[in-house]
Amino acid sequence: MSIRPYKNTMPTLGMRCYIDPSAVIVGDIMCGDDVSIWPLVAARGDVNRIQIGNRTNIQDGTVLHVTRRTANNPAGYPLVIGEDVTIGHKCMLHGCTLGNRILVGMGAIIMDGVSVEDDVFIGAGTLVPPNKHLESGYLYVGNPMVKKRPLNDAERQFLAQSAENYVLLKNDYLGD
Ligand SMILES: CC(C)(COP(=O)(O)OP(=O)(O)OC[C@H]1O[C@@H](n2cnc3c(N)ncnc32)[C@H](O)[C@@H]1OP(=O)(O)O)[C@@H](O)C(=O)NCCC(=O)NCCS
Repeated sequence: MSIRPYKNTMPTLGMRCYIDPSAVIVGDIMCGDDVSIWPLVAARGDVNRIQIGNRTNIQDGTVLHVTRRTANNPAGYPLVIGEDVTIGHKCMLHGCTLGNRILVGMGAIIMDGVSVEDDVFIGAGTLVPPNKHLESGYLYVGNPMVKKRPLNDAERQFLAQSAENYVLLKNDYLGD
C-alpha cells in the first residue's frame, strides 16, 4: 500500500490527485487538489507535517522529509510546498518552506529552515544550505547555491506552464 498511516494519522488528498502506485506516502501529509506524485517518491510525515499545495507535482525518485520539534526549536521543521510548484526528478526536500510557482531542478537538495519566495527557479543539482532565504524572481544555481540572475519573462511564464503541463499529464494517468 503506497498511502500509509504513521501512528493514527493518514495522509489526506484533495480532489483529482494522482499518486503513482510505487510512491510511498506516510503519515501527516496534506495534499491539495490536482497534486501529482510520480514513481518512487518517498514522503514521510512522521516527526513533523508535510503540506503540498494545489496543482503541485513531485517527480520521480524525490524524497520529502521533516525535522522533529525540540525544546530549542519548538516548531521543528515541517515541509511546506505551495501551489503550482514543480519538483524535478530525484530531489531532496527536507524541512523547508516553498512559496508558489517555483521550479526545483532535478537532483536539487533543499535543507532545513530554507524559505523560498514565489516565482523562483532553482537549477538542477543546486544545494541550498540550511536557513537560506531565496528571493522572488531569481535563478539560483550551484553547490552551494548562488543567486545567479533575474528570471526573464519566458521563464516566469514557464513556472505556471510547467505545473499546468503536469496537471494535464496526471489527468491522462487518471484516465480523465
Ligand atoms: C537553471 C537552468 C534553467 C538555466 O538554464 P540557462 O538558460 O541555460 O541558464 P543560463 O545560460 O542563463 O546560465 C546562467 C549561468 O548558470 C550556469 N548554470 C545553468 N544551470 C546550472 C545548474 N543547474 N547548475 C550550475 N550552474 C548552472 C550556466 O553555466 C551559466 O553560467 P555562466 O554565467 O558562468 O556562464 C537550467 O540549467 C536548469 O538547471 N534547469 C532545470 C531543469 C529541470 O531540472 N527541470 C525539472 C525536471 S522536468
